[in-house]
Amino acid sequence: MVRVVRATQVEIDTAVQALRNGELVAFPTETVYGLGANAQNPAAVAKIFEVKGRPPSHPLIVHLDSPRFLHRWVREVPQVATRLAEAFWPGPLTMVLPRAGNVHDVITGGQDTIAIRVPAHPMAQQLLTAFGGGIAAPSANRFGRLSPTRAEHVREELGEAVRVLLDGGECQVGLESTIVCFEGESVRLLRPGGVTAAQIRALVGELFSGPAGAAPRVPGSGPTHYAPTTPMTIVPAGEIDAQADAASVGARRVAVLAQRLPLRAHKYATWINAGRRPESYGRDLYNNLRTLDKAGCAHILVQAVPDLEAWDAIRDRLVKAATAVAGADDGTGTRAVLP
Ligand code: TXA
Ligand code: MG
Repeated sequence: MVRVVRATQVEIDTAVQALRNGELVAFPTETVYGLGANAQNPAAVAKIFEVKGRPPSHPLIVHLDSPRFLHRWVREVPQVATRLAEAFWPGPLTMVLPRAGNVHDVITGGQDTIAIRVPAHPMAQQLLTAFGGGIAAPSANRFGRLSPTRAEHVREELGEAVRVLLDGGECQVGLESTIVCFEGESVRLLRPGGVTAAQIRALVGELFSGPAGAAPRVPGSGPTHYAPTTPMTIVPAGEIDAQADAASVGARRVAVLAQRLPLRAHKYATWINAGRRPESYGRDLYNNLRTLDKAGCAHILVQAVPDLEAWDAIRDRLVKAATAVAGADDGTGTRAVLP
């Protein structure tokens, strides 16, 4: 259900005051909820790393309400980046650009680049405009865990550690932003997300992928990330019913994230049919994984998603959340023995 997503003036004032006082504010964006601090206050930004349990070498995204003050954060903007900004901002696109001289190392992890995004969520826009500066924010979850797509997920993840939480309802994209970096006027995809590779290619021509030569650090590209606590295995699409049966031998409960209903009743399965549309599958993904994580099952089985570009961001997050991938056709070279 789509909720009304504007905050009251009192809520915004409280959040802005907290940011000015060097405190953290959790806020909604159209991708996932962010855990924000005043990007010009290094002590406040350091609290983000503390609360998340995130290693300090992992750089943060700075959020702005528009590209108006981009030059305060970025030394130079390639022409192609300006075109991407015009096409996709505000929206789920993050651009890694050469950082300006006064940007604090705590944000960039000491790198010479800074990641910038202009989010579209109306409450994020309200907050950024009222604050009038940049807000450094990662996803509002503990390091390595599932990103929050609802205010209650943030409460579950961070509890009292966050003084102010703006509730903007359910995030409509549901997966973290697309991240690109630049080599001259060439564009490289670092993390697939809500803006698809096809949309970027349509605008800029060629789009490179894979890590760059002087690889910027993208922690989401580590071995497990975006992960539930229950072991999770991706299984080939056609095998999901058979694998659910195999995993529930001996009356063990199994959780299943599929794209259709089960072919037959599985007595011990908690089965979610997330459907065949990448938009709604992506929007619901983290909430579905949270639900399955809490279902008291020994395993989560995920039906492999289609090998199409529209599913790239989803496949990327599933592979990172999975502790194992079963079957030979997944391209990862890992084979898992199911329970
Ligand atoms: O949708 C999103 O991007 C959300 C919302 C809150 O905006 N944020 C988010 O932040 O996903 P986080 O910290 O969970 O992921 C940010 C990613 C990390 O993988 C980080 O390494 C990368 O951005 N990043 C940040 N600065 C970078 C830089 N200078 N070079 C390369 N990657 C960078
Ligand atoms: Mg994150």
